[in-house]
Amino acid sequence: MSTLISIKVRHLICDYSTRMTELKSLERAGLFEKNVPRYTSYPTAPHFHADVGRPDFAFWLETLDISKPVSLYIHIPFCERLCWFCACRTQGVTTLSPVAAYVDVLLDEIAMFKATRPEGLKLGRLHFGGGSPTILTPELIDKLMAAILDATPFDADYEFSVEIDPTACNDDKIAAFARGGMNRASIGVQDFNPKVQEAIGRPQSYELTRDTVESLRRHGVPSVNIDMVYGLPYQGIDELKNTVKLVQSLTPDRVALFGYAHVPWMAKRQNMIKEDSLPGAHERFQQAEAAAKMFASSGMDVIGIDHFAKPTDSLAIAARNGHLRRNFQGYTDDRCIALIGLGASSISRFPQGYIQNNAATTNYIKSIQSGDWSAARGFALGMADQVRARAIEALMCDFEIDLEALKATYGDFSKPVKADCKRLAKTYPTFVEFNGKTFRILPDGRPLTRIIASGFDAFNAPNHRHSSAI
Ligand SMILES: C[S@@+](CC[C@H](N)C(=O)[O-])C[C@H]1O[C@@H](n2cnc3c(N)ncnc32)[C@H](O)[C@@H]1O
Ligand code: SF4
Repeated sequence: MSTLISIKVRHLICDYSTRMTELKSLERAGLFEKNVPRYTSYPTAPHFHADVGRPDFAFWLETLDISKPVSLYIHIPFCERLCWFCACRTQGVTTLSPVAAYVDVLLDEIAMFKATRPEGLKLGRLHFGGGSPTILTPELIDKLMAAILDATPFDADYEFSVEIDPTACNDDKIAAFARGGMNRASIGVQDFNPKVQEAIGRPQSYELTRDTVESLRRHGVPSVNIDMVYGLPYQGIDELKNTVKLVQSLTPDRVALFGYAHVPWMAKRQNMIKEDSLPGAHERFQQAEAAAKMFASSGMDVIGIDHFAKPTDSLAIAARNGHLRRNFQGYTDDRCIALIGLGASSISRFPQGYIQNNAATTNYIKSIQSGDWSAARGFALGMADQVRARAIEALMCDFEIDLEALKATYGDFSKPVKADCKRLAKTYPTFVEFNGKTFRILPDGRPLTRIIASGFDAFNAPNHRHSSAI
């Protein structure tokens, strides 16, 4: 039995009073009232600024080391439906013409990318995200794939993943992505309960989802992920457990179980969701635990704070080998040196720092059509930032920071992180241990991972604009 399963099972059998004491100390540590980032980057995107932009993007791109493959992210900011819970950058469209016009601009950006990137660059990872990439027609998918692979051919062991909305997908679209080399797919489910679906404006039947999974498998896509969300309106433990069972019947290779981020000040459409229909913090905690228990007992490995994977899946293997990473798409085993984001609002990560394209699609289109990059804001990483970025990533992925390894890579820049380890070991004595060399979040402290990670964030200030910690 893996350690994580035994942790989950221990939670099953521990007696009620121990459980209440644990919950009280998690509560005292702020689990139920703190708002903290999800740390898909460090610093987080709100700290990007306009001093880093187009010239940096061009220079960082043209000086990439071609001995190592890169990752490419293509953002499609359109959906046929606009689900009220969704915090992603996307806009609803009723006709295909804005999508086709956007693809033309993307093709121009890919041509600029080809003209700037060093000769011989290979593609280790390709990810289409959104929005809904499956809004593209097979013809548009073929056009984009031809341009991408002409600009950078796939490396030998590439991975190509696509985010799939079953209600905006069909066999022909799956066939087009599979022709292009898609070998991973991520399907949005969230919850199968009709009342929950109605409250988030996202009807989607089990049957349609099952047919999409079957079509992906028929087209030779070996790996399927399913996204679920807890903490949704009218969702109770029973609804969630039922969705877990239905999801399990689809035998996904990976599952992402996100806590619903209710951030209506950023995602205006969430104002459609009534606050009083949302489960409270304690209920969210119980939901996350109940679902995790079901996935763990079915034999999936628990990955980081919110993912599950079959033990044979590359994410689980990476986690076991200490190679798990975290990027803008969440947990990944991607070890490429750079992630280049194309399309409106997409974020690139180079060894030197982050750069984000114009968030508004119209501004993105204007820049590219004027023949210039759309890079609008970013952050150049100094050594002091890099060491904190690595420490936070290690905590989010492995629940521990190896200070000797940090010192070997970053030298004296690791000293402030060590000081933070000492401070946080005093703040959370029952949830972390620190022996001077390794800082570790103990199993009972894992629900606090984002809160503890925020203790290493030099930009951290009380900020109620993030999503809740659980
Ligand atoms: C970019 S969306 C693409 C999904 C795809 N368009 C679909 O609907 O199937 C990726 C995932 O982000 C997650 N997500 C979106 N908004 C969220 C929110 N407010 N809180 C938590 N997760 C969210 C959902 O699980 C969703 O499947
Ligand atoms: S969940 Fe998917 S389909 Fe719904 S609005 Fe978000 S990106 Fe679009």
